[in-house]
Amino acid sequence: MNANVSTDDFFATVAEKSEGAGLRGDYSKIDAQYVVAQDWDAYTPEQHALWRRLYQRQAKLIPGRACDVFIESLERLNIGDGIPNFEQSSEALFKATGWRLVAVPGLIPDYTFFEHLANRRFPVTVWLREPEEFDYIVEPDVFHDFFGHVPLLFNPIFADHMQEYGKGGLKAMKLDGLSMLARLYWYTVEFGLIQQPDGLRVYGAGILSSGGEIEYCLSSPEPRRIPFEVERVMRTLYKIDSYQETYFVIDSFQQLFNDTAPDFTPIYQKLKTLDPLPANLLLPGEVNLQAK
Ligand code: PHE
Ligand code: FE
Repeated sequence: MNANVSTDDFFATVAEKSEGAGLRGDYSKIDAQYVVAQDWDAYTPEQHALWRRLYQRQAKLIPGRACDVFIESLERLNIGDGIPNFEQSSEALFKATGWRLVAVPGLIPDYTFFEHLANRRFPVTVWLREPEEFDYIVEPDVFHDFFGHVPLLFNPIFADHMQEYGKGGLKAMKLDGLSMLARLYWYTVEFGLIQQPDGLRVYGAGILSSGGEIEYCLSSPEPRRIPFEVERVMRTLYKIDSYQETYFVIDSFQQLFNDTAPDFTPIYQKLKTLDPLPANLLLPGEVNLQAK
C-alpha cells in the first residue's frame, strides 16, 4: 500500500484480499494513526480468564526454548494475571528503551504501521480471540501482539532494530520492495531463532505465542534451520497457514541490527530480477542446523 492511499482504500484492499470477509475489530473510533483507547475496563472476567489460560500454557513451554531476553522481560512485565493494561506496561517499556505501546483495533495499513515503528511506538491489537480459537487465529489478537512482541522491545538493540525496520518500511514503499522486506520481518521478528551460548532459542513472536510451534521449531527433524543471511531471507517465500518449513538463525541481536543496516536499494533491485525461492529449499553448501 502506498503512502497516499486513504483509509477507504485500505478497507477495500483488505476486503478484496480476504474475499469480502473484511477485518475483525472495531474501526469506528480510530484517529488518523488508527489508534484507539484500549478500554481496559470493558474486558470481561471470562476474557481475563482466557488470557490466563493462554499465558499459563506458554509460560510452561518457555524455559529452555525462549531466548533469555524474552524470559527476563516477561518476568518484569508481570502480565500473567489477566489482559494487561497497555498504559501501565507502556510506562515500564518507555523507561527501559523509550518505546511506547499504542492500542489499535486490529490490522492497520502498512504505511501507518511503519510510521508507528519509526517513532518507537508499537501497535497492539485490543481484541482477544474467542475460546474456540485457543490454538489458532487468522489475524493477530492482543495475546499474540502483547505476549509475543512486547517483551523483546525491552532489549535496547532489538528496540533500535525495530525502529530501523519502521524507517526501512517507509523507504521500501517508495522502492517497491515491500514483499522482500515483509519476508525479512516474517523470518526474524515473527519466526526467528537465535543461537545462544547454551543452545538454540526462539525470539520470533509468531512462535512464542504459539502452543505447538515453539516445540516443533526446535525439536522436529522436519524443518530447515539455516544461518541468517539478509539476501537469502528476502528471497524466500513463506507459509502463513502451517508451521514454517525453514527457520533462519541469528547469532545475536547485534548481528541482526548490523546485517540489516546497509542500504537495501541495490538488494531490492537485484532480487527483483530473480525468482523467489520456495520455503522448503536448502541451497548447495548451506548449513542445516540439527534439531536438539
Ligand atoms: N537498511 C534498510 C534499508 O536501507 C532498512 C532496514 C533496517 C530494514 C533494518 C530492515 C531492518 O532499506
Ligand atoms: Fe506479529
